[in-house]
Amino acid sequence: MNEMISLENVTKTYKDKTVVDKLSLSIGKGEVFALLGANGAGKTTTIKMILGLTDDMNTSLKLESDSYELVREEKDVCEIVRRICVEFYEDITATGKDFDINIPEEPCMASVDEKLFGRVINNLLANANKYNSSGKLIVLNLSSENSEILIEVMDDGEAIDEEFVPKMFDEFARGDKTRKTDGGTGLGLAISRKIMEKHNGSLKYIRAEEMNCFCVRLNAQT
Ligand SMILES: Nc1ncnc2c1ncn2[C@@H]1O[C@H](COP(=O)(O)OP(=O)(O)OP(=O)(O)O)[C@@H](O)[C@H]1O
Ligand SMILES: [Mg+2]
Repeated sequence: MNEMISLENVTKTYKDKTVVDKLSLSIGKGEVFALLGANGAGKTTTIKMILGLTDDMNTSLKLESDSYELVREEKDVCEIVRRICVEFYEDITATGKDFDINIPEEPCMASVDEKLFGRVINNLLANANKYNSSGKLIVLNLSSENSEILIEVMDDGEAIDEEFVPKMFDEFARGDKTRKTDGGTGLGLAISRKIMEKHNGSLKYIRAEEMNCFCVRLNAQT
């Protein structure tokens, strides 16, 4: 009984109440314990997973609403992306991979919701690191041409299954080879694509030069 009470307390003070309440009701006490038992995670890990899921679901719902407005400001996208790369650098190199970062020195200005845009780059780098167990390299390229900013996040891991590629940006989609216990929810790419579309930009996947390449496009401020 204690588990469920503490879960409700945490979630209620965390984010939008309506969605969180629905989530805690639908989980139910039995399933929380099933979740704890199934993946061997501790209570804190499980609560963190549920909070992450709740936050993702809130964001996803908000982004679907036409009336939801981004908090856009004119920002140097190079600076935002550089900062996120620094945050990832240790994690990536600690797994024995090289992290090749190519970001121009001069600013590339764009009107972005920094928090949401940052979330896209975060998810792409986290994915590249998490799902590239066979490879040795992660590359981030940022370039700007014809009033468009292009950010490519690439990894030299195995090609993503052709059958999975069309579903990859769907909510809760996770590849067959993906470990079910690594804490991911399968919402990251769905949310990332919605965020880029709200920015009138795009997020696409291609397999090129033996690398998985996620391409983010954004209109530059001219
Ligand atoms: N760089 C990649 N290499 C191989 N597979 C990938 C890569 N990026 C994503 N995938 C596959 O796409 C799935 C969906 O990714 P997505 O980011 O949407 O969710 P997630 O990482 O599983 O969970 P979340 O991002 O919500 O924590 C992943 O589970 C994985 O199977
Ligand atoms: Mg992810």
